Amino acid sequence: MKKITIAIDGFSSTGKSTVAKQLAKKLAYVYVDSGAMYRAVTLYAMKQNFISNDYFDVENLILTLDTIKISFIYNAKLGFAEVYLNDVNVEHEIRTLQVSQLVSKVAEISEVRKKLVEQQQQMGLNKGVVMDGRDIGTVVFPNAELKLFMNASAEKRAQRRYDELTERGDIVTFEEILKNVKYRDHIDSTREDSPLIKAEDAVEFDNSNLTLEEQFEQIYKIVETKLK
Ligand code: CDP
Ligand code: CDP
Repeated sequence: MKKITIAIDGFSSTGKSTVAKQLAKKLAYVYVDSGAMYRAVTLYAMKQNFISNDYFDVENLILTLDTIKISFIYNAKLGFAEVYLNDVNVEHEIRTLQVSQLVSKVAEISEVRKKLVEQQQQMGLNKGVVMDGRDIGTVVFPNAELKLFMNASAEKRAQRRYDELTERGDIVTFEEILKNVKYRDHIDSTREDSPLIKAEDAVEFDNSNLTLEEQFEQIYKIVETKLK
């Protein structure tokens, strides 16, 4: 069967990574969570004290970008690749609300984007890749055979993220998650470099009222048409 590139973009907590992982498993493709890379750079900036809620030393982050190594290492037990920052597993740490509150500021920086987009394009050279993020169909893989653009209501998305974080033991409130979801929607879609917009040829998908199974079933039907 021919190998294609699948680009999944959309707002926060719309189910992008869930469907991307399901597709990668079904097709035996590589899954790349591009958001995890922006989160890893953010975690690095936090650890270096380059960024906090009221402070951002952009200059020093840019100066030290070359020292940041991000890798994905497949975990057979989990069935997907975990993220490593300078050889340390940060899969859990990058998903905290604290990182979510700072990541969109870091993702606005063009030098950061340039570094990560180059690495993402390398990972997709041989096709057979499913990548999710904000600019995959518009910037990273503008020639992807299939582009999906996911959306759902902000309340639904915040509820899903709240459930996810509380389940893993994080102490958060629904209100702060909703605030963060709306805040990131705004910054991500209004920034100058690579804003979150639907690619002209992307298929729009609203899953506010779909279960994970229904969502996958509908999306896989679209995928099948591209594999012929
Ligand atoms: O999982 P969730 O949708 O909450 O976010 P994510 O995919 O982990 O992405 C975290 C943040 O990274 C986004 O809010 C964007 O600011 C940034 N991002 C980006 O700018 N470009 C991408 N291709 C992926 C993520
Ligand atoms: O990658 P993204 O931030 O877009 O979303 P995700 O991490 O795939 O999904 C966020 C949460 O919403 C996960 O816990 C999913 O299981 C859940 N979800 C859901 O319950 N129903 C959907 N139709 C889509 C996602």
